[in-house]
Amino acid sequence: MNILILGDIFGIPGVEAIKKNLPKIIIEKKIDFVIANGENAADNGLGITKKNSEDFFNAGVNVITSGNHIWDQKETQEFIEKEKRLLRPENSLKPVPGKGSNIFISKNKKKIAVLNLMGNVFMKKSDDVFLAAKKFVSEVKLKKDADFIVVDFHGEITSEKMAIGYFFDGKATAVVGTHTHVPTSDTRVLNKGTAYQTDLGMCGVYNSVIGMNGENSLKKFLKDTSAQRHFPADGEATISGLLVQGDHETGLAKKAEQIILGGSLQERFK
Ligand code: FE2
Repeated sequence: MNILILGDIFGIPGVEAIKKNLPKIIIEKKIDFVIANGENAADNGLGITKKNSEDFFNAGVNVITSGNHIWDQKETQEFIEKEKRLLRPENSLKPVPGKGSNIFISKNKKKIAVLNLMGNVFMKKSDDVFLAAKKFVSEVKLKKDADFIVVDFHGEITSEKMAIGYFFDGKATAVVGTHTHVPTSDTRVLNKGTAYQTDLGMCGVYNSVIGMNGENSLKKFLKDTSAQRHFPADGEATISGLLVQGDHETGLAKKAEQIILGGSLQERFK
């Protein structure tokens, strides 16, 4: 079972890279299921539009996850109620539209549970993420309720992400971090069989400041009064994600392989 999980797709260059390359990657790597974080897909890098989500589904994405920017586009609150393939963080403060987890069917007819969590440290206020994780594992068990379970932990700090990795070790197929837009090199299968990477990085332009125009961003840090509102960087996007080979017998990971393709990062695509 090959599951591809893609990091935050950022702005027009990120969306275009997914539309152009994802169909080919799916064929070449024999991918059965694709999860992508889409909360920065809108043209200005903030939020996700209905059109963005349609483009992703057409390109082969099965489920879109999100995070702190999920509500930045006004239309999202409405279309998320009908579009079950778009998740918002499970531990969002309630009441809130949409769902934070669900079970989906892959093209090879496997049940894949996807859980979207958001960190508590240096993030928008949300419910306790560890309590949300405990509740989820009490309700959704690997091999009983789902053939495979994938967790997208959208968070700022590495310790919180690693702790969630340990929490789910042996209970989920994969735990990946998103949000920082920088891929970490700690890809591995944990002791009890869960694939893990602290952050997937973004599908976006890396010659930037986390996707936004670098020069302008620097001006803001320097408090230069000519700085404009943040706007996305131009250029070729790098696709960044994790390919997880799931074991049909256990639901755990046999192998985890980082994928980095195109743009300015050093390629990792065998
Ligand atoms: Fe984010």
